[in-house]
Amino acid sequence: MLLQQAAVLLQPHVPLEKEALLRRLETPPEPKLGDVAFPCFVLAKQLRRAPGAIAAELADAVNAADQGVRAEAAGGYVNLFFDSAVWLGRIVDAALEPGYGRSDEGRGRHVVIDMSSPNIAKPLGVGHLRSTMIGNALANLYRETGHAVTTVNHLGDWGTQFGKLIVAYRRWGGKAALEADPIGESLQLYVRFHEEAAEDPALEDEAREAFLRLEQGDEETAALWRFFVQASMKEFERVYARLGVSFDEVLGESFYNDKLEPVLERLRAQGLLAESDGALVVRLDEEGLPPCLILKKDGATIYPVRDLATAIYRKHVMNADRLLYVVGAEQQLHFRQVFGVLGKMGEPWTGDCEHVPFGLMTVEGKKMSTRRGKVVFLDEVLDEAVRRAREIIAAKSPDLPGADEVAEAVGIGAVVFGDLKNRRQLSVDFKLEEVVSFEGETGPYVQYTHARIASLLRKGGSLSEQQPLGKKGAHVPAEGIGMTDAAWVCAKRLTEWGAAVSEALRDNEPSAVARYLLELARDFNRFYHDGKVIQPGDESGTQARLRLSAAVGSLLGSGLELLGIAAPERM
Ligand code: ARG
Repeated sequence: MLLQQAAVLLQPHVPLEKEALLRRLETPPEPKLGDVAFPCFVLAKQLRRAPGAIAAELADAVNAADQGVRAEAAGGYVNLFFDSAVWLGRIVDAALEPGYGRSDEGRGRHVVIDMSSPNIAKPLGVGHLRSTMIGNALANLYRETGHAVTTVNHLGDWGTQFGKLIVAYRRWGGKAALEADPIGESLQLYVRFHEEAAEDPALEDEAREAFLRLEQGDEETAALWRFFVQASMKEFERVYARLGVSFDEVLGESFYNDKLEPVLERLRAQGLLAESDGALVVRLDEEGLPPCLILKKDGATIYPVRDLATAIYRKHVMNADRLLYVVGAEQQLHFRQVFGVLGKMGEPWTGDCEHVPFGLMTVEGKKMSTRRGKVVFLDEVLDEAVRRAREIIAAKSPDLPGADEVAEAVGIGAVVFGDLKNRRQLSVDFKLEEVVSFEGETGPYVQYTHARIASLLRKGGSLSEQQPLGKKGAHVPAEGIGMTDAAWVCAKRLTEWGAAVSEALRDNEPSAVARYLLELARDFNRFYHDGKVIQPGDESGTQARLRLSAAVGSLLGSGLELLGIAAPERM
């Protein structure tokens, strides 16, 4: 808003288009240099005048316009100082408008997001968890900016390992045990299979045969396979529910079984297949990549072919304009190869495919998973986070109604925020004590600030129970502010919301929103501690401060929601 206004004021006096001018405007590093600065050096050559002279003239023009903006020329810059008495109210009004900062830039574009995508009968690993949380935040961000979004859970529900599982289950398994603990029981069956197969290699043949029957559609085998898939899925769903995540589509790898042959056919017909050690590959020398393995010696198709069929399906059947794959950085080569082969197949849209990689996440130095191994169990991490949140809440607000629910929201929010606040490519190690703390760069800090504002508004009478904060309920005038510097800093931060969302979208980087929320919360808390918001006897000042608070609270609420984190009204 301030940048926009600065451009409006300067544009009649400079030989630049509005967009070009906007790009040149800067936010000065120190408040004493103003709210917006325009460097005049770029114009010096074109106008054949010294930057200082240009700056002086521009400053005069802005001051003459008398629009609540004072200009000073200094060192070749025009520094603009917005009169907070005029502009603070305008900013707050704008920020309280429904849909503030919401852009429509995705209108008419369909984005398909591949996220979570765990493997059946195996624990949900840390990569799947990060994929779930980052993918969920990205899906929200794309929706918020007008895109049509389809999230797809690309379950790993097919492969020779199911032959082994089926054999092991028939010999040593039981329905009740598998239903009670699908993933634990499956893991045990695998382990037993490998132990016994070491003694009795015939088991391997039996497993191959079982998988073959499955591929051929044998009903009894297929029923067993479906049972494994459903049992694991139930377990995954419990985790998803806890994290507050759902999917538009669950289309596992098996969904593409009948779509692989046409792809192979095409590769063959286009002469793209080459032999290498008895296997079939597509060479990607021109792309500077190692060959992409398509068909193994034993005729088994492998992972890349499924992803070729998947991408073609998403593009041509689901009508995706953009395909995002939120998958760990260790699969970088795989996706480069898949996109490379698609290009060779003459699919001209590979530029619309993007692998969105992320680094490893650990908790206190250990990998996290849904199953205990050399890893920490996700549920335990969440439980521990919730337990700590409950302790902090009990100490801070002993009489809080619905304290258990709030603790759940805060504990889980702490873990999710602890992940999302980091640039996704970084590896993250978090200490529970840190991420659950109500101080510092944490989810609970943002949540607590939001709840603090909700409480202020309740006390100030401008938030009824029917109109929750995030949905805006404050009706208070903006004038008569008597504002401090902290209030102005806070209001200016409100104007950066749209830029934070755009950055998050441009880079597929939810951390841009998380970091913005931390800054906004910090700015608000400075304002809050600067002087009382509610001051009996100063009605109009109180209303104005409440209104600023409401605008901040509303953005904190929307921001948390975008990240997939609950924003309780009381903490
Ligand atoms: N199931 C795979 C894994 O656990 C991830 C799948 C990612 N999505 C894809 N389209 N390849 O490694």
